[in-house]
Amino acid sequence: MKFAIVFAALFALAVAASPASYKDAQVLRSESDVGVDSFHYNLETSDGTSQQAQGQLKQVDAENSAVVQSGSYKYIADDGQTYSINWTADEFGFHPEGAHLPVAPEA
Ligand SMILES: *[C@@H]1O[C@H](CO)[C@@H](O)[C@H](O)[C@H]1NC(C)=O
Repeated sequence: MKFAIVFAALFALAVAASPASYKDAQVLRSESDVGVDSFHYNLETSDGTSQQAQGQLKQVDAENSAVVQSGSYKYIADDGQTYSINWTADEFGFHPEGAHLPVAPEA
């Protein structure tokens, strides 16, 4: 279940991160390696968008496993600014970090 939630979140982010000019973008780099219990990929396009991520299957407890992932992406938005995000996703959720994102107060 967590696996599906993480991927749904990542897909939503990937869609949200696509600038309007994506239709004209050329692929500059596309690498991926998908194994049985791990993966990584790296994608860069000529519109200034890039993303990379890697993940590894982790046994959380006797019954549950999760794909623990980390990655980053950046894109040029309609305002002309480049936005960069570093993120991790694990059994506790999705954790993005970026200069433009608010930071939660210490618990
Ligand atoms: C992402 O991580 C890299 C390497 O640790 C760091 O140089 C960069 O400033 C980070 N970017 C953001 C948006 O946090």
